[in-house]
Amino acid sequence: MTLPPRPALPAVTRVRVPPVKSQGIKTRIVPLIMASIRWDGQGRWIEPFLGSGVVAFNVLPQRALLGDTNVHVVALYQAIQAGRIGARTVAAHLAQEGAKLLAGGEDHYYAVRDRFNAGGNPLDFLFLNRACFNGLMRFNRRGGFNVPFCRKPERFRAALVTKVANQVAWVEQVLAGRDWVFQVADWADTLGAAGAGDFVYADPPYAGRHTDYFNRWSDGEADRLAAALRGLPAGFACSMWLENRYRRNDAVARWFAGYPVFTWEHFYHLGATETLRNAMREALVVSPGYAVAGGVPCGAAPLPVVGAEVGWTAPLE
Ligand SMILES: C[S@@+](CC[C@H](N)C(=O)[O-])C[C@H]1O[C@@H](n2cnc3c(N)ncnc32)[C@H](O)[C@@H]1O
Repeated sequence: MTLPPRPALPAVTRVRVPPVKSQGIKTRIVPLIMASIRWDGQGRWIEPFLGSGVVAFNVLPQRALLGDTNVHVVALYQAIQAGRIGARTVAAHLAQEGAKLLAGGEDHYYAVRDRFNAGGNPLDFLFLNRACFNGLMRFNRRGGFNVPFCRKPERFRAALVTKVANQVAWVEQVLAGRDWVFQVADWADTLGAAGAGDFVYADPPYAGRHTDYFNRWSDGEADRLAAALRGLPAGFACSMWLENRYRRNDAVARWFAGYPVFTWEHFYHLGATETLRNAMREALVVSPGYAVAGGVPCGAAPLPVVGAEVGWTAPLE
């Protein structure tokens, strides 16, 4: 007997943006990711590499297990979930620190950065995330946040404070009615909790790039992740870079030969001008039985671009 195909995830017309910004954020391709996956929502949505959380916060499953090694991202969501911070506290904090930034300039930014590195207050994390250069999230070898100031002391105008507070209010609302667990964990521990009926979305760091305290990644680790995904009792989708103008990630076909794969191209800017616009192709491998029609069996070379072309302005990882 053939079972009917699993239902597709709901279509997203407007991507909701969570309060955390990061360089690897999937905001622009969330609709493409979701349009590629079939899952009935009966088990848990599991993300071993949560990052900003933008994918989970658009899929909106009833139950989720969301892990990351970055303690600050996890602590922020846990604090909102536990009601320790909310839209009002965030608005008050950003308005207060924004006024001090306007008066004190970069000295105040670096004072908050030192305070955050000593105490790890999630409210300071949100402030730094919006006041730092390019919305980057980067930590030094000792785990200290080390992104310089964006040099815009007037950054925290009322409109920005309200925008971030609204994003936090929305996160509060989402978490209130759902069974979501946020955990500081290595990907292998989060993945180890996946069972039949769950669905795993994996968005690992790009191998060989970023040497960040929370974001180290090697080819060996990528191999182990691929093996673990292939052995899962649950469905999965895994995002990977496929190629840019200099390199191609041949490991994708080696790891997932025959799996349905969706690819799309997006652009990122290395500098302020259009001349430094670079194309990057990205792949989403989906486990058989969980992919919508239209994926190309991995290993068929060259993989065509089946997704829409997506503009990309934030720096890539
Ligand atoms: C590409 S980002 C995920 C981006 C996310 N999908 C988004 O749209 O914001 C990769 C994430 O993996 C986390 N990470 C790196 N190494 C990890 C590990 N060994 N275990 C779990 N998480 C890890 C990083 O802290 C980072 O948040």
